[in-house]
Amino acid sequence: MATRRKDPTEQMDAFSIHGGQRLTGKISVDGSKNAALPLLAAGLLTDEPLQFSSVPELSDIENMVHLLEELGCTINRKNDKLTIQTTTDSQSHARYDIVKTMRASVCVLGPLLAKRGEVRVSMPGGCSFGDRPIDLHLRGLEALGATIRLDGGDIVATCDRLQGATIFLGGPFGSTVLGTANVMSAATLAKGKTVIESAACEPEIADLATLLNAMGAKISGAGTPRITIEGVDSLGSANHMVMPDRIVAGTWAIATAITQGDVLIEHFPLDHLLAVTDVLATVGVRIHQTDLSQNPASCTVQVVSDAPLSPVMFTTQPFPGFPTDLQAQMMALLCTANGNSIITEKIYPERFMHVPELSRMGARLVKHGSTVVVQGVGELIGAPVMASDLRASASLIIAGLAAEGETIVSRVYHLDRGYASMEKTLSQLGANITRISDSDSGDVLPVVETVSTNKLVQSDS
Ligand code: EPU
Repeated sequence: MATRRKDPTEQMDAFSIHGGQRLTGKISVDGSKNAALPLLAAGLLTDEPLQFSSVPELSDIENMVHLLEELGCTINRKNDKLTIQTTTDSQSHARYDIVKTMRASVCVLGPLLAKRGEVRVSMPGGCSFGDRPIDLHLRGLEALGATIRLDGGDIVATCDRLQGATIFLGGPFGSTVLGTANVMSAATLAKGKTVIESAACEPEIADLATLLNAMGAKISGAGTPRITIEGVDSLGSANHMVMPDRIVAGTWAIATAITQGDVLIEHFPLDHLLAVTDVLATVGVRIHQTDLSQNPASCTVQVVSDAPLSPVMFTTQPFPGFPTDLQAQMMALLCTANGNSIITEKIYPERFMHVPELSRMGARLVKHGSTVVVQGVGELIGAPVMASDLRASASLIIAGLAAEGETIVSRVYHLDRGYASMEKTLSQLGANITRISDSDSGDVLPVVETVSTNKLVQSDS
């Protein structure tokens, strides 16, 4: 029987940040959340064990582990190592209780359908930054032969053995990352050949294909817009190291930049962040690989920001363009630049929940549709602000690192979904950031206190 777990939204921790500390030191990037979620779901495609390393310690990963346990998997976790094995296939229903806390639960859809021939997944609703349909996932699975209907808010999909097909996955905002993951995973067990046209090219898709191929799948072209899959009868066991998190890495680089810092970042996926490092270079932030013998997909870089920041114009796009998941963080940085920047959001036109909160901190932001003009103000001012989604939260923390005075960011459970103990990493680099827990009483109580003596060198503005 399903057990009730504590809803993360019941944990109303906040962060207090006293801005003005320059970030310096060395940190390392953990495995990627957005790679790990579909990788773990691939455990449903086989009866044999999968072993993972570099699995990040995040609430979204805990949610996925819980979901997979409900779906009949046995999971053992120790630090960043995780093994997963399906032990029973009697339960194929991803319940609303879980899907509503983590939209990415939808990535069990393809694996369950392909392996068990039936699946019921609660239809994910919209999220705080707008409508997020899954029509392309469903269209792709239907093309492989699934029968799909909606029943009581659940998607119910059934099939005999899936059949290979040619599928176009482009939508009004480009391809779909989790849709590509679902269709590619399902097609590994289909009869015959599948071609996915207009597939998502994100590195997380290439990482998933690497795992699936190690399990015995025959996938070529992952990481390009055309993926070809020759179906096989069954998949086996594999070991896999999750790729470094490019969004977390980019967040650390931007946090360093806003404090005029100097930070060494290990396991930095430089190769996956070239659009971001290009924008940062225009802004005046220097990022260089310290040891050229390392693989640029996971190398050590030094991030240095020691000059006044310049404005820039950028547009979010599917990979290899500038990622939407770093748009909010970059906006915080550009608030402190000398001049006007222009940001256009082409993946989620409504993903601007951070705009009114940054404005509370003195940012001058003018929004026209899916474009925001950022008038650089040089210095932000600390204020109580509210996190509304994962990356908006990161943006507010970054703003708080440079703001004058205290910033209180409430509802940081959003942040815990995608950044492992962010306050500890930032404290290690010299930030003055404290987690305020509401777990002990109705009053807010500081449970971690770290104060640094590093002083922020303000840019001329
Ligand atoms: N879209 C459709 N139909 C679909 C699917 C998507 O029209 O069937 C649209 C979406 O509304 C959006 C665009 O296509 O406008 C791209 O959406 P996509 O399906 O690629 O998003 P996703 O796969 O659900 C993943 C990440 C997101 C990230 C997006 C875009 C995971 C778990 N999530 O979502 O990450 O923003 O790709 O890169 O991988 C985050 O980490 O904060 C986050 C939101």
